Amino acid sequence: MLNGKRILLIIGGGIAAFKALDLIRRLREQGAEVTPVLTKAGQEFVTPLSVSALAASKVYLDLFDLTDEAEMGHIELSRAADLVVVAPATADLMAKMAGGHADDLASTLLMATDKRVLIAPAMNVRMWEHPATQRNAATLKDDGVLFAGPVEGAMACGEFGPGRMSEPHEILGDIERALAGGPLRGRHVIVTSGPTHEPIDPVRYIANRSSGAQGTAIARALAALGADVTFVTGPASVPPPGGVRVVRVETAQEMLNAVTAALPADAGIFAAAVADWRMAEAATSKMKKDGSGRPPSLAFAENPDILAHVSGLGGNRPALVVGFAAETDDVVAHATAKRARKGCDWILANDVRPETGIMGGGENAVTLITADGAEDWPRMAKGEVARKLAARIAEAFSA
Ligand code: CTP
Repeated sequence: MLNGKRILLIIGGGIAAFKALDLIRRLREQGAEVTPVLTKAGQEFVTPLSVSALAASKVYLDLFDLTDEAEMGHIELSRAADLVVVAPATADLMAKMAGGHADDLASTLLMATDKRVLIAPAMNVRMWEHPATQRNAATLKDDGVLFAGPVEGAMACGEFGPGRMSEPHEILGDIERALAGGPLRGRHVIVTSGPTHEPIDPVRYIANRSSGAQGTAIARALAALGADVTFVTGPASVPPPGGVRVVRVETAQEMLNAVTAALPADAGIFAAAVADWRMAEAATSKMKKDGSGRPPSLAFAENPDILAHVSGLGGNRPALVVGFAAETDDVVAHATAKRARKGCDWILANDVRPETGIMGGGENAVTLITADGAEDWPRMAKGEVARKLAARIAEAFSA
């Protein structure tokens, strides 16, 4: 049942728009309140009157409708809902969403909302398979947008293939799942991400090339499954995801403190590229050349190993501790040994030889090492790796 749940339903301009009418009927049968928005193109397929009558609500059509702005601004409209649903989501609407456009009411609402968004794509098979649409779909998934379909089937245009909108009862199921909060609801997960910066003096530091992309994608994927995520990040070059608690740190010691303060947790995912060494004593004022031509000698001290520390905690240890291993040879053997040495449950190992292009790239090819052995995952986008890992974590908690 969806009693009292408020759905903002954006109906795009596609032949599948007629199915949105059935979706409205089913949502209302389940007790949901539907506020419909009809795009200009959508109005070519279904009339505002039929949408409004079925929803028993005013239908919103235009951003520049001043009466509506007086009644309810677009910001408020986008946030009063529990879930924003786009059905049908056309190739054009998806492109606008992925590109961050806000040139009409629907796209502006999608930019302004702070709620989860579920889209039901509907388009011709060639349009769905077009690299531009696939790129946009990947971007939207990375942004945390939920997808209902599309499915494979006969199309109004006479072709057959993926791109057909899911049936209203299937979309209804996806809406119920989205509102239920996901399989990781109520689970607290700590994710570390990015590099650490270890000061040499007030202006210089030791760092590494980690962008934080993989850790950020993991935090986002876990949040999308409903987890309560504490995201402890070093100075990364990608922005943190939405919907998580962000704790910014600089050094390994600060990262350890932040992780310890965030405990207890159900799971800890240690994706940060933590510097193994820091200065034994960072200079408190800028180190100057002394004119002798001799370089200074720097004395290092070992940083705490956050993954090993958390894995070794007694009662406060998360039930699932996951680490990463960056290897250049004998990936499985080294990562298996690392799993035992660190005392974690799973290790995601990746081959970071320069010719793989993984370090700093958009893709990753990982091997998951667990107590049961090694499992190779095919090379895929970092967002896909993140979603696969999040799904495995959800599975582990439901077992
Ligand atoms: N890690 C950590 N704290 C450290 C060092 C590493 O939490 N001080 C975590 C990383 O987040 C990652 C895993 O441990 O999950 C990587 O272990 P590490 O020993 O650094 O392995 P590599 O980077 O693969 O390096 P090496 O092979 O030299 O051990």
